[in-house]
Amino acid sequence: SSESGRVLSIQSHTVQGYVGNKSAVFPLQLLGFDVDPINSVQFSNHTGYPTWKGQVLDGEQLWSLIEGLEANNLLFYTHLLTVCDPVMGDEGKLYIKPELVPLYKDKVVPLASMLTPNQFEAELLTGCSIHSEADALEACKKLHGAGPSKVVITSLDINSDLLLIGSHLENEEDAPKQFLISMPKIPAYFTGTGDLMAALLLGWSYKYPNSLETAAELAVASLQAVLERTLLDYNAAKVQPEVKQLELRLIQSQEQIKHPIVEFHAKRF
Ligand code: ATP
Ligand code: PLP
Ligand code: MG
Ligand code: NA
Ligand code: MG
Repeated sequence: SSESGRVLSIQSHTVQGYVGNKSAVFPLQLLGFDVDPINSVQFSNHTGYPTWKGQVLDGEQLWSLIEGLEANNLLFYTHLLTVCDPVMGDEGKLYIKPELVPLYKDKVVPLASMLTPNQFEAELLTGCSIHSEADALEACKKLHGAGPSKVVITSLDINSDLLLIGSHLENEEDAPKQFLISMPKIPAYFTGTGDLMAALLLGWSYKYPNSLETAAELAVASLQAVLERTLLDYNAAKVQPEVKQLELRLIQSQEQIKHPIVEFHAKRF
């Protein structure tokens, strides 16, 4: 592609391992984007380990970086990756203070062109619980109503497979185009996959702006290839996949990130 995007990515940094910016920047660069990371935290390692140490960037520090960019006319990004993935919580656990939920709902979500909540975040943002595909489709419609024209619920755990639900509101008159991608649940605990998914969705939907389905199929394909490679390497090292310290094998999967082979296809509702 000739027109390359420029992404400002505000996410966590880990010294060792791959979550947040560490799992988003390299894949986006592989897809041809210029990526400028701001590290919202700098931790030794991800939260799957027994302990982590480090620093959190406060609002003032974040703002001074933005001011520096602005002062030199450098704030000309095509994408901001952070609003895209709300990062509020997972599996029934809130990462943020509960009083911040309305702020996300009313101030953050309306700014996003694409929103990639997980099941729990979609429930928090819509106030509806999600127990079925129909519930998820309804939640997507509600989220469109709040602003974003593209919504992807990145993982739904309602049957034996793992589901991704996508919804694209192309214009206000028509119903959104909705689809699901079903993939087998791999019996292992990965960290950084949500962040990688958001980055891949951003990347592929810039290349396929009129087909969220194609973008999601390609993102899922890259991601599944990374997970396969990760498991393969850990199996070879005789590490049990149940442990929470697994690290995504991003560097080793770069060919599959650049050239994903779609295996799991989107099904239109
Ligand atoms: P968030 O980062 O917002 O919490 P999330 O909870 O949806 O996002 P994950 O549950 O890690 O993040 O899922 C993101 C994607 O990673 C899924 O769409 C799927 O493609 C892949 N994935 C993660 N874990 C597995 C797994 N155990 N088996 C198969 N695919 C997985
Ligand atoms: N650990 C840290 C320090 C993080 O910042 C994050 C997410 O940003 C995670 C773990 C979890 O990443 P994910 O939801 O992509 O699995
Ligand atoms: Mg998750
Ligand atoms: Na997500
Ligand atoms: Mg996450």
